[in-house]
Formats: sequence, structure tokens, C-alpha cells
Amino acid sequence: MGIRVAAADELGPGQRKIVEVDGRRLVLFNIENNYYCIADVCSHDDGPLGDGNCEGFQIECPRHGAKFDVRDGSVLSFPAIRDIPSYPVSVVSGSVEVEITDVT
Ligand code: FES
Repeated sequence: MGIRVAAADELGPGQRKIVEVDGRRLVLFNIENNYYCIADVCSHDDGPLGDGNCEGFQIECPRHGAKFDVRDGSVLSFPAIRDIPSYPVSVVSGSVEVEITDVT
């Protein structure tokens, strides 16, 4: 079941929001009216990924410049070598919901 992280009209295209769900910091993006959610923690050295520049679907870690694809968390450039978690997002009854899929 999804967890509500924003109202459906809260973020315009190009906007983002840092949210905390179950003690995890996530960053929610609206890119061209589609929502994406990834961890707000860089896999290189725990940098605050959500504070980085985002161009197209690429976000750049503000700490050392690693790039990731916001659509699936895949790593695109050094110095990071590991993907970061991404989470399915859906819009349900006016709410943006994120599904936490890696609960152990
Ligand atoms: S912490 Fe993100 S690139 Fe180093």
C-alpha cells in the first residue's frame, strides 16, 4: 500500500520535495507531470542527492558530482558505482503515494 507524500497538485513540473517515510529520506520529483521518487542519499558517500541539479532525468550529487537517473535510481557516472533505491509512485484520489518496496 502506498504512503501519501504530497497532494497531487502540490508540485508543478520541475519541482521536487524532500519527504521522510519510515525514517528514510526520499526525494519526489515532478518531471513533465510524471512523478518519480528516489532515495535522498547518494550511494557514494551519503550526499544529499535531492539538493543537486536535475537536468532532464539526471540528478547530480552536490557533493562530488555523481549522476543518477531519477526514473530508476541507476547510477550514470563516477564517483558513485552503486544504484540508489527508487520507489513506485502513483496518484490516488488527489494524493501522491509512494510504495516502499525494500522493507526488510
Ligand atoms: S556523496 Fe555523492 S558523489 Fe560523493
